[in-house]
Amino acid sequence: MSTVTTTPAGKGLEGIVATTSSICYIDGERGVLAYRGIDIHELAEQSTFEEVCYLLWFGHLPNRQELKDLQSRLAEERHLDPAILDFLRTAPRSALPMDVLRTAVSALSFYDADARKNDHDANIRKSIRVTSQIAMIVAGYDRIRKGKPVVNPDRSLSHAANFLLLLNGEKPSQTAERALDIALILHADHELNASTFAARVTAATLSDMHSAITSAIGALKGPLHGGANEAVFRILQTIDSKKADPVDYVRGMLSEKKKVPGFGHRVYHTEDPRATHLRVMSRDLGKTSGQPQWYEMSEKIEKFVKAEKKLNANVDFYSASTYHVLGIDEDLFTPVFAVSRISGWTAHVIEQLDDNRLIRPRAEYMGPEYPNRYVPIDRR
Ligand SMILES: CC(C)(COP(=O)(O)OP(=O)(O)OC[C@H]1O[C@@H](n2cnc3c(N)ncnc32)[C@H](O)[C@@H]1OP(=O)(O)O)[C@@H](O)C(=O)NCCC(=O)NCCS
Repeated sequence: MSTVTTTPAGKGLEGIVATTSSICYIDGERGVLAYRGIDIHELAEQSTFEEVCYLLWFGHLPNRQELKDLQSRLAEERHLDPAILDFLRTAPRSALPMDVLRTAVSALSFYDADARKNDHDANIRKSIRVTSQIAMIVAGYDRIRKGKPVVNPDRSLSHAANFLLLLNGEKPSQTAERALDIALILHADHELNASTFAARVTAATLSDMHSAITSAIGALKGPLHGGANEAVFRILQTIDSKKADPVDYVRGMLSEKKKVPGFGHRVYHTEDPRATHLRVMSRDLGKTSGQPQWYEMSEKIEKFVKAEKKLNANVDFYSASTYHVLGIDEDLFTPVFAVSRISGWTAHVIEQLDDNRLIRPRAEYMGPEYPNRYVPIDRR
């Protein structure tokens, strides 16, 4: 019956290698993540988000001049067309920031000088531009929905510091800037995660960068992917407001067969190397900001879930408490993920187009047997 001759892939394409790529290396058994071969721990400790963008887009670490040039280009692109700002102002105040981001990124293409070009250099230009614009959209909409004035960018600041300035209206402390910078580095790329795969599928039809990124943002939103960080914080908040015991609360979730957001991973069977850094950041920032409770609750939940279900915390678990103590609202957590992941999405779109073939898999047909005759409506 089946017209498919190869062995069907497992549900959710588990374990399927769908392409070759030179961007991101993951060893799920050993808990290794590396961008262009450079271990995430070295990058988190020593690099900046701008350096990581360069690494992802150009394939090697920048020298001083190359880094300076990229920093200036990112800074120059810190502006939005007035029509995009109008859209942010007219979007309903109740709109989810992630939905506003998706629609605004789609609309960015109307005002992009390279919108009709799909060559390598145009796509590098678009990558730089959209990276700056996404940060401005996320921060700008948050200010607008709160009735606050949109803040002018400061072109002398790093990407992380400028984002916090646009969000909070004041320059961040060095600690806050570095914390966000590390979070941006850790979230920048992750091989063929769902949103990146969505971006590559769209790009592979020879559509365009903005369409690919719009697809990716739609995929990132879901709670099984980027939306998990927000779901984690909602649980922490509920536990806090009810003065509940964190372990009892999560035990209750498991007994109702609910998944605990922030745990488990399709690829890692050991500690997610990004969680290693976010755990420390959540602890240290919690202490210095006088809000240690979020980390303390998270730590108890992590120990329990590990003992009970043998599941490890993933990138989203400790990013929730980290972002909260940085003063970021929970419905901005997933948009902030996009502020970082845009670097990886765009790198993958460029890689896909540099050696493109349409991505078009098959489905194993399980429906009524062929031929299943058409019955005229008056005989049904
Ligand atoms: C990340 C995730 C989607 C991976 O999914 P997956 O590879 O398809 O794994 P499955 O959903 O098939 O889970 C396998 C088993 O582990 C359990 N499991 C996985 N994650 C779980 C979680 N967070 N809480 C409780 N149980 C979980 C499943 O219930 C399933 O158990 P079963 O075999 O008894 O039915 C999944 O772990 C999840 O939903 N996690 C919570 C959301 C999240 O944090 N997403 C962000 C990922 S970075």
